[in-house]
This record gives sequence, structure tokens and C-alpha cells, in this order.
Amino acid sequence: MITNNSLFGAVVGTPISQSLSPTIYRAAFASQSFTGEYEAIEADESSIKDVLDQLRSRGVQGLSVTMPLKEAIIPYLDVIDDDARLLNAVNCVDFTNGVATGHNTDGDGCCDALEQQGGALLGGTHAVVLGAGGTARSVALALGRRGARVAIINRTVEKAEELVRTLAPAAQEAGGDIVMGTVEEIGRAGVLVNTTSVGMNSDELPLPANILRRNIVVLDAVYSPMETALLKAARQAGDKTVDGLWMLIQQARRQCMHQFGWIPDAEPMREAAERELAARHK
Ligand code: ATR
Repeated sequence: MITNNSLFGAVVGTPISQSLSPTIYRAAFASQSFTGEYEAIEADESSIKDVLDQLRSRGVQGLSVTMPLKEAIIPYLDVIDDDARLLNAVNCVDFTNGVATGHNTDGDGCCDALEQQGGALLGGTHAVVLGAGGTARSVALALGRRGARVAIINRTVEKAEELVRTLAPAAQEAGGDIVMGTVEEIGRAGVLVNTTSVGMNSDELPLPANILRRNIVVLDAVYSPMETALLKAARQAGDKTVDGLWMLIQQARRQCMHQFGWIPDAEPMREAAERELAARHK
């Protein structure tokens, strides 16, 4: 039951039934002994305005935004923070003082997972990001803002060039950089992040396994399977690996900070997500 003192959050997108956000958030609430509810609500581009109005009238405090609404929700928000504006993508909304403010926590969630679960030192490191879609954009910006030199490799070169052109100046301001990359650069990299969907529910690799060498921190944003073919090859090459579930949890912790004002512990969220995934695969 939702009371005046309890928390109320939701995730919107479509299809939404497989979202792990309710599981992760409920575990976060429970671990802090908060009461409240976190709903998964089916919404697309044509219904998001009405869904948002309804949620606001019900007193929603936090909203997570997933596919295909990260851009489509922007016109209906009151304020967009600088990075979400630069990325043209919002994955998190808070309603502090009745003002709907959009953020993007995907990239910082990735960086937190690289640092906390992978032990990576990001300032000054060479990072290679595979992909140039929405996830790649937020990851590259966050890495660049933490002082990394980020090389982008993507199947469609024009998309990588566009990413570099739009995001490199912000990275440079922070002492990092974002540039076009080549596969050979993985030999010099301290960090490798796969943001492509290659390896999702398949044993495909997004790059030849023999390119991997020891002592890279490798994160795969894909978490189905939890150990993708890339992470398996990286582990066998002697690398530190971080799965995509950690990125999902770390970006949710940052969302919680924006939405409710506190950062939940990662472990109960992780345990709940693993239990839920195991139950789904039974
Ligand atoms: P997301 O929001 O998860 O980043 P996206 O914006 O659709 O999703 O981006 C998907 C990324 O995966 C893109 O970089 C895409 O490459 P293209 O820009 O060339 O389309 C990449 N991708 C998807 N399937 C791929 C494949 N089979 N091989 C290589 N790259 C692939």
C-alpha cells in the first residue's frame, strides 16, 4: 500500500514486462526498510504524455525510462540536465518540488561498475567502446568526463563520426577525449566496453578473441547471458570482467539518488536480480 510516507516509482517503456527495474528497486526499498511501490508501466511514444500526467497526479517521485522512450519523453519534462540534453536521451526523471527533471545515468553507471566491480582507474586510461548507439553515447561521454581517452569502433562508421563530433568537446573540457578507434587499439587499452547487441542470447563475439590481451577491464553491457562470449574470452585471456547486470544496477543506484535522495547498497539489488533471472530461466 502506498502511504504519504512511502516511496512511489515506476519504469515506463515497451515491451516492459521483462524489465528488471521493479525487482531491483523493490530490493533497494526493502534494504533501507522503506515502504512503497515500484510499477512497470507499458507506454509508447503515443501514450507517454498521458501516462506521465497520470503518474504525476498519483504523486510519482521517480521514473525510469527505457526503450523506446528515452528521447520521446523529453518534450514532456520541465528541465533536462546538461548531459541528458547533450545525449538527447533521458533514462531517469525526478519530480523534486513538482519539477520533472530528466537525467541520463547509463554512462555513469557503466563507469561506476568499471571502477567498483572492475577496479579500473579511469582518469588518463585508454578506453575502447564498441558501438555508437544510445548506450555508447552515454558511456563514451561519462568515460571522457572522467578523464579517459575513448576510442569508438562501430560497424557504421558515420554513426561513430557523429558521436565523436558531438561529444568530444565535452570530454576535452574534462581532460579526456573521444576519438575514432581501430581494433588494434585494444592492445593498448586499459578498458574495453561492448555496447553493441552482439552476444545477446548468442555466442557471437563483437571482435576476434585473439585481439584480447591480459590486464584489460572488460565490461559487456549485454547481460543475457550473464557471461557473454566476449566476457568468457576476456576471462580466459586473463582480463578482469564486469557483466552488464552490474552496469544496470549501478545506473539504477544513481537513478535512486536523483529520485529519492539516497544511494542504495548494490548487493541486495544484485541478489534480487540474479534470483529473478534464475526464476525466469527455470
Ligand atoms: P542501444 O540503445 O542499446 O545503444 P542502439 O542505439 O540501437 O541500441 O545501438 C546498437 C549498436 O549496436 C549500434 O552501434 C549498432 O551498430 P550500427 O550503428 O552499425 O547499427 C550495433 N550493432 C547492432 N548489431 C550489430 C552487429 N550485428 N554487428 C555489429 N554491430 C552491431
